[in-house]
Amino acid sequence: MKRFTPENLTPLSWTPFYATLGTDDRLAYNRLHGLYFLEQTIFFEQLLGRPVLDHLARHAPDESLRREAREFAEEENLHTSWFRDLLREERPGWYSKSDFHLIGAGAPQRLIIRWLGRNVRFLPALLWLQLMAEERALYFGLQFMKDDDSLDGRFRAVQKKHLADEPGHIRRDELFIHALWDTASPRLRSLNAKLLHWLLREYFLLPKRSGWNVVEHWLKERPHLIPRRDEARQAMDGLARNEAFVKSLYPRRHLPRTATLSQAWQELAFLQRFLTD
Ligand SMILES: [Fe+2]
Ligand SMILES: [Fe+2]
Repeated sequence: MKRFTPENLTPLSWTPFYATLGTDDRLAYNRLHGLYFLEQTIFFEQLLGRPVLDHLARHAPDESLRREAREFAEEENLHTSWFRDLLREERPGWYSKSDFHLIGAGAPQRLIIRWLGRNVRFLPALLWLQLMAEERALYFGLQFMKDDDSLDGRFRAVQKKHLADEPGHIRRDELFIHALWDTASPRLRSLNAKLLHWLLREYFLLPKRSGWNVVEHWLKERPHLIPRRDEARQAMDGLARNEAFVKSLYPRRHLPRTATLSQAWQELAFLQRFLTD
């Protein structure tokens, strides 16, 4: 039985609690987290990314940008289809009707997120989120390539294919930022910078909601661990104080475009503190 994701991409593996677990329990957690990672990528590509790209494909200021957005959306659709196929192959019961089982975003939340994306003109913060997500996809994907023989070949292969397209996406994210962030008023930029900072800390930093959801599913699958639920909760909560873990989340050297590009705007100075060395 092989892993679905490199161990260092799973939050619990950074805790002392993990060291007390048996091999099968660790593997079960790793595999669930591997599925969650694919869900997360689909979430970024389809819920956050697609409405933004569809909007840009129609309303971007010039034809070359509109074409870039169309091609970008087509590539993301293809990626999503690879991830979806793998999820369905692995857990048909979970994924035959929905792409999301471990991510706790219900239909109302999904509608709101899509609506936000369509209003990217007023919410250019979404373009920064997208750029950061793409740089992290590259960073995480490279971890799959580093791994030895312990990873499931299907999960490794799908990341390898994905890696090939991400640099092109990062290039396009930068074009869109120049088109929309540059032209926004200082007031809109400042509001969006505050929103971006809040979103990053609340939803995209520590494993809060969905990260715990994965643990809950894992406990259900490994009922002998249910008496250790509180210990697992404490371990997850302790991650906020785990410097090595926090530093693994947004390392500056793996988000070089975000680090460099954001320097052009004073309202984004907080990103220099958010990214870690
Ligand atoms: Fe993608
Ligand atoms: Fe992408």
